[in-house]
Amino acid sequence: MTSKPPFYTMDNFNLGGRKVLLRVDINSPIDPKTGRIIDDTRIKSHAETIKELLEMGASVTVLAHQGRPGDSDFTTLAAHSQLLSKYLKTDVKYVEDIFGPSARSSISSARPGDVVLLENVRFYSEENIEKVPEAQAKTFLIKYLAPLFSVYVNDAFATAHRSHPSLTGFPIVMPSCGGRLLQNEVEFLSSVYSATSKPCVFVLGGGKVTDSVQLMETLLPKGIADKVMLTGLVSHLFLIAGGKHLGKATVKIVEGKGLNAMLPRAEALLKRYSDRIMVPVDVAVLKSEARLESGVDNVDDDAPIYDIGEETIKLYSETMSRAKIIIMRGPAGYIEDPRFTKGSEELLRTLVKTNAKSLLGGGHLRAISGRLGIANKIGYFSTGGGAFITFLSGEKLPALEVLITSAQKFKADR
Ligand code: 3PG
Repeated sequence: MTSKPPFYTMDNFNLGGRKVLLRVDINSPIDPKTGRIIDDTRIKSHAETIKELLEMGASVTVLAHQGRPGDSDFTTLAAHSQLLSKYLKTDVKYVEDIFGPSARSSISSARPGDVVLLENVRFYSEENIEKVPEAQAKTFLIKYLAPLFSVYVNDAFATAHRSHPSLTGFPIVMPSCGGRLLQNEVEFLSSVYSATSKPCVFVLGGGKVTDSVQLMETLLPKGIADKVMLTGLVSHLFLIAGGKHLGKATVKIVEGKGLNAMLPRAEALLKRYSDRIMVPVDVAVLKSEARLESGVDNVDDDAPIYDIGEETIKLYSETMSRAKIIIMRGPAGYIEDPRFTKGSEELLRTLVKTNAKSLLGGGHLRAISGRLGIANKIGYFSTGGGAFITFLSGEKLPALEVLITSAQKFKADR
């Protein structure tokens, strides 16, 4: 059973002949060596929303981000525009500008049926600052772009947990609605939990450690998660918080990412929820150019941890086999290196053998499932990673909340 979301959708507007500003999330995993997009699912998925808007007779200007400033995947949207053209079967006009003269002139000259893709919105510094929607509405992005459009459509479910100008500024000043993809995610994920969804198990990995800690601080006290199994970088943080000596190489990676500041929060969670938080009992390290298994008590100083170990895979798999619902986000190891994909692959293989309802978030897991030929056995893939888990943890997502505010402020067409 799905229920209608509490904000306007594309069905509430007559978009024929109108200029639509569409925020999407085509932030994609990028191969650090070649710069190629590894998984283009988000691009393909948002292309469906764009097609629908074009069929309605709109001209569509697309606003999107890629990576975060300082990260290796922080780059232009040139490759994205080519893939978008491919999936739309029409030329997308890619403008290397966000709200300057060349962006504004391309928007003004766009006709119904045209698609314009603006440059990575995070190249604009104000976009990277979290503020309340009312403050975001006063930023230059909104001042310059809002007057050029009649409707703002937010389809970026995967970034709905952020309050950045491009996500929460526009709905304050103009009629706005959720795009088709965002609407479908909200409708589906609202219906996930039922009386029979216990035990509910979360498997959290990937690189966004701060997000994971924050989510655990919600999931565990609310009793939503019966077990949280940790992998990847976040598991290293919790192992250190639990007093393990992970060796200098791994500690350096943790420190280099500024994660030491998170240690008190990890310690507090471990103290309170040690019966529900599971950390690896062994790991795989890179030693003399090879993958080696190691215990977690005495990891060599010169051997960075890049994956979970065999015993951990077994232990986590046993827990997964007893679950009624498994929610997984982020890979278990450094999957860019083929020697360290095993943990993620084995957990996914186990997942599809269980009878549990399975929900996966983030592009990396989707890419691995595709490669293993098991993607069709996964219950549901969300386009979101952090947003997906935040939604399932019952927290409010700022970009959705502001669409509700907007619906109270502006009238729909129908
Ligand atoms: C994601 O990939 O989770 C979204 O694009 C959000 O990215 P962010 O965590 O860099 O805001």
